[in-house]
Amino acid sequence: MRTQWVELGERSYPIYIGDGVLEQGLLDRHLVADRALLVSNETVAPLYAERLAAPGCEVQSVILADGERHKTLQTCEQVYDALIDGRLDRSATVIALGGGVVGDLAGFCAATYQRGVGYIQVPTTLLAQVDSSVGGKTGVNHPRGKNMIGAFHQPRAVVADTGVLATLPEREYSAGLAEVVKYGLIRDRAFFDWLEGHVEALRRRDPEALAHAVAESCRNKAEVVAADEREAGERALLNLGHTFGHAIETYTDYSSWLHGEAVAVGMVMAARMSVRLGWLPREGLDRTTALLEAFGLPTRPPAIPEARFRELMSVDKKNRGGQLRLVLLRDIGDAVVTSEFAAEALTATLLEAV
Ligand code: NAD
Ligand code: GLY
Repeated sequence: MRTQWVELGERSYPIYIGDGVLEQGLLDRHLVADRALLVSNETVAPLYAERLAAPGCEVQSVILADGERHKTLQTCEQVYDALIDGRLDRSATVIALGGGVVGDLAGFCAATYQRGVGYIQVPTTLLAQVDSSVGGKTGVNHPRGKNMIGAFHQPRAVVADTGVLATLPEREYSAGLAEVVKYGLIRDRAFFDWLEGHVEALRRRDPEALAHAVAESCRNKAEVVAADEREAGERALLNLGHTFGHAIETYTDYSSWLHGEAVAVGMVMAARMSVRLGWLPREGLDRTTALLEAFGLPTRPPAIPEARFRELMSVDKKNRGGQLRLVLLRDIGDAVVTSEFAAEALTATLLEAV
């Protein structure tokens, strides 16, 4: 087992990573009282809920419907009902077992129930293990915007069992790899090189390669979060490809593209734009495109009219004073968040999508 700490003073917490960590009694270390509520969904609970060993703790459960469309305040009501009906008090712990949808929603309920109770993330998708379970961003969608309602609330621990990824559908697994590649691109060239050398091992979900990829991703995310918990600066780099990607997701009604797929295309668009600006050597773009394709990810955007693409990109939490801010690349392993770029470079990049 590997343990990565997220260093946030008295709110620091461990991320346990490895094959089988779910059954190693780790939860017990972080359950401060004898009551907990397990939040999961109808797909994941039948597969893994029984593996969560917490002797000495009465664990009640609430099982939600599966899917991003259920990441709403309405679904939170089910969790609050279970917490109140179960007479769980402020010392109780919420355990989130599932992908990013369950983790974000259960974390938000933990942040808001009785003004905040502790929670433990047990991420079961690759995306959740390398990104959403770490860093304390919790929340739900509003009919007018994704992740519009939320809170920063750090978990007490993250238990990332790479063994559970064996049952993850291929597309979901590839989508998670997009976020893994992101860490190499924004701040870790050596990790990017390592990924290029381990494509086959990762595609067949080799346990050793997978544990290394998850651990290195979590190390990168933990360092960024420790330096900038509330996204005043550096944390925005984690959004590489996301402004283009969110536009693609919104344009296609969140129905045909997975988040990681849209981010993969978004990262290639950011790299193309960076080449146009003369910031990123052409080789950087070629290597990025080749690695994402090798992981089975799309690299070309769907046909979206330029004006519409621009409009969709203007709804972004990174923008300031109506100005579009983008994460762009100066090299593999070196990214920057900026609004200072030649407008023609963006126009030309968007026109390629038509
Ligand atoms: P998801 O939670 O919808 O999971 C994808 C699918 O895989 C679901 O059908 C789920 O039931 C199923 N599944 C989960 N684990 C499985 C397993 N081990 N075996 C078989 N099936 C399994 O999607 P996701 O990609 O994990 O997360 C996406 C969500 O994460 C989005 O809502 C996004 O906004 C959020 N997110 C949050 C952050 C953050 O920092 N909080 C970061 C990135 C993404
Ligand atoms: N996924 C972006 C962040 O955690 O900041």
